[in-house]
Amino acid sequence: MNGAGALLLGKTAVITGAGQGIGLATARRFLAHGANVVIADIDEDKANQAIAELVKADAPVIAVACNVASGADQDKVAALALSRFGGLDILVNNAGVTRDGYINRLSEDDYDAVLDISLKGAWLGIRAVSPLFRKQGSGSIINMSSLSGKIGNPGQTNYSAAKAGLIGLTKAAAKELGPAGVRVNAIQPGLVRTDMTLAMKPEIFAAKEAEVPLARAGEPEEVADAAVFLASPMASYINGAVLEVTGGRGI
Ligand SMILES: NC(=O)c1ccc[n+]([C@@H]2O[C@H](COP(=O)([O-])OP(=O)(O)OC[C@H]3O[C@@H](n4cnc5c(N)ncnc54)[C@H](O)[C@@H]3O)[C@@H](O)[C@H]2O)c1
Repeated sequence: MNGAGALLLGKTAVITGAGQGIGLATARRFLAHGANVVIADIDEDKANQAIAELVKADAPVIAVACNVASGADQDKVAALALSRFGGLDILVNNAGVTRDGYINRLSEDDYDAVLDISLKGAWLGIRAVSPLFRKQGSGSIINMSSLSGKIGNPGQTNYSAAKAGLIGLTKAAAKELGPAGVRVNAIQPGLVRTDMTLAMKPEIFAAKEAEVPLARAGEPEEVADAAVFLASPMASYINGAVLEVTGGRGI
């Protein structure tokens, strides 16, 4: 799909944490819709392996090492997108990690790591692109929250706090950048089949899946499609919104 019907033709997107899972599925969908894609992942080798076939087929995609918790890394990625593709239009703050544990067993390091990567990382990404987005009077930012940030999960006080924090960040940034023509939205996925959730004990995965009105876990591509929509002109009047992609779980 590189012509009619492509929703992101000629746009350039940075997607963090896109070496696998939802981020990689989003990269593939964005490419299919005509975008240039910069994959920014802490594991550059994995990201390069993941896109090897696409690169061989001359798809406009590159992978770069980036720890989203580093402001310097995020600035470098934005600059690279500009120099490689001549522009930057979309940022998907997708990178996130879990470090689960009940409150009294959770170390401060594990608390801080989740907040630094999942929440501060998104803020650093927004900070890196907002001068350019303001100047050009356009841009779309998508923050990958989680249903965990809406309903709270026991054993995930760090993750739930970070993912709820992303909603506040999304709304504040939407108000701050909206007047410059920049849209900021969030996606709240529910249970999606990736390494992150397949690391759960099977009985816990099954218990969560049983809560889904659509009676199944989601696939990464189903979240990616929501990201395509929010990034595209189809969502031109959507700003500060939180789109739940949960199969109806947690409503
Ligand atoms: N899978 C789900 O069910 C689910 C549900 C709700 C929300 N989410 C959110 O969606 C996003 C993607 O989840 P996923 O399931 O694809 O995860 P995943 O664990 O499969 O992939 C995460 C990617 O992020 C990268 N990463 C980790 N730390 C990083 C850092 N500091 N800087 C840059 N990259 C880093 C990893 O190398 C990996 O490639 C996350 O923010 C996650 O919290 C996932």
